[in-house]
Parts: sequence; structure tokens; C-alpha cells
Amino acid sequence: MQNLPNAPKPKLHVFVCVNDRTQRRPGMPSCAPSITMETVKQVKYWIMQQGLTHKVLITKTGCLGICPKNGAVLVIYPMQRWVTEIKSADDIVSVIKEELKKLK
Ligand code: FES
Repeated sequence: MQNLPNAPKPKLHVFVCVNDRTQRRPGMPSCAPSITMETVKQVKYWIMQQGLTHKVLITKTGCLGICPKNGAVLVIYPMQRWVTEIKSADDIVSVIKEELKKLK
């Protein structure tokens, strides 16, 4: 085990579920296809364009255990804020903007 002292220390770390059960377990709710890896890529690109790569980190995840019937789930740290029914990259960007405002 080794610590990484130079690893990124973002102000916000957003975890977005992209779990997709549509093929494996049809009928069971899952965050994809509402939100996909491509959606997370779009938000990463937005973060880059805004010059926020030192402040905001976004990571796609598997199931976070909430599994909404509509949209997807994200959790943002260090606030420990959970948001559900996320339906687009714009929704994710809105949450990030709200949390960035609170940091100022
Ligand atoms: S499938 Fe996304 S939280 Fe469970």
C-alpha cells in the first residue's frame, strides 16, 4: 500500500452511475440508458472547457444502490449530496454549478 501525495485534490468529486441493466435484467431500473459513459464524457469536456479540471473531478460508477425508475443517480463529495432523476449532461452541469457557487 502506498499513499499518493501528488494525486489530484479536487474541490468537488462527482460520481455518476452509468449502470445499464437493459440487456441483463430487463424491467429492472437502472441509470443507463438515461445517462451513459458518453454523457459523462460530455461533462468532462465541459469541465475542461471551463478550466475547472483542478477543481472538479467526475467519475462514472456502477450501481450506487438507489436505482431510480427515471433518470440516473449521482453523488457529489465532499458535500455527500445525492441527486436522482438526472436525465442529461446539462442536469449534471447544473448540480456542479450549484455546488461551485456554494464554495465561493
Ligand atoms: S443502477 Fe444506478 S444506482 Fe443502481
